[in-house]
Amino acid sequence: MKSQIKVFAPATVANVACGFDILGFAVDYPGDEVILKPMKKPGVSIVKITGDKGKLSMIPEKNTASVSVLSFLKHINSNQGIEIELIKKMPLGSGLGSSAASAVAGVFAVNELLGRPLQKEELLPFALEGERLACGTAHADNAAPSLIGGMILIRSYNPLDIIQIPTPKDLFCTIIHPQIEIRTEDARKMLKKQIPLKDATTQLGNIAGLITGLIKEDFNLIQRSMEDVIAEPVRSILIPGFYDVKTAALDTGALGCSISGSGPSIFAFSTSKKIAEEVGNAMQSVLSNLEINSEIFVSKINQTGPVIIED
Ligand code: HSE
Repeated sequence: MKSQIKVFAPATVANVACGFDILGFAVDYPGDEVILKPMKKPGVSIVKITGDKGKLSMIPEKNTASVSVLSFLKHINSNQGIEIELIKKMPLGSGLGSSAASAVAGVFAVNELLGRPLQKEELLPFALEGERLACGTAHADNAAPSLIGGMILIRSYNPLDIIQIPTPKDLFCTIIHPQIEIRTEDARKMLKKQIPLKDATTQLGNIAGLITGLIKEDFNLIQRSMEDVIAEPVRSILIPGFYDVKTAALDTGALGCSISGSGPSIFAFSTSKKIAEEVGNAMQSVLSNLEINSEIFVSKINQTGPVIIED
């Protein structure tokens, strides 16, 4: 067995406007890293966490990375001892799938360390245990794309049915992360439990249109379909200047723009890197006028998922 392994798992944009809890994609950066070491003594421990400003628990049962490792080891009936170092390279509570990236990095790393007893796709249920811990629900639209890469449709949760959707090669994503924090758990509680039939019909048309547009590389259809009538109208009140940021993105040439996951990050799709960068600058200047600091990430859709960066 290797004496240690270091793994990177990417951030993700969940919901992708109209696909609440059923659609998400991975980006090239940011992401989280873990270093795992096998230990003689059974048990999983977290020895170090950096980049979390002291906010994450080092108790193995209370950290998404270690919870995913613990549930994996239980599943394969292993009492292998594991030491985990977690290197957070993205903000917490940002809407970028921070808890999912840590969970995916952890479970991918332990599977590799132990000689790959399971296929990558089979690791998803263990990463979802991390999500359950982080926000009370095992939603898969961050963990699945972080693990598998690309644009992922969760066709069903019970049983889990995960489908990778092809995307146009010239599709670029801009993410702007306003430096405020929103807890996913809170942003989920505010959603209405009942949806009027009219809104359900609108949303279904848009999700079908978005997926068709991605597969057919029909940018005009993607543009028409990037509308969310369920989560965005409710959650946008948590993000100062959201509609001004969105207008700035669309006026600068973005195909569409919505909240990334449960926010506060906002994402937009564009058809070139140049437009995607201009969109980021336009979004940032709206936030700067509101005296809100922000970071911009421009990326293609990451097709790889987690990678070993050192072993
Ligand atoms: N689909 C989830 C939500 C993603 O919107 O609550 C959270 O990142």
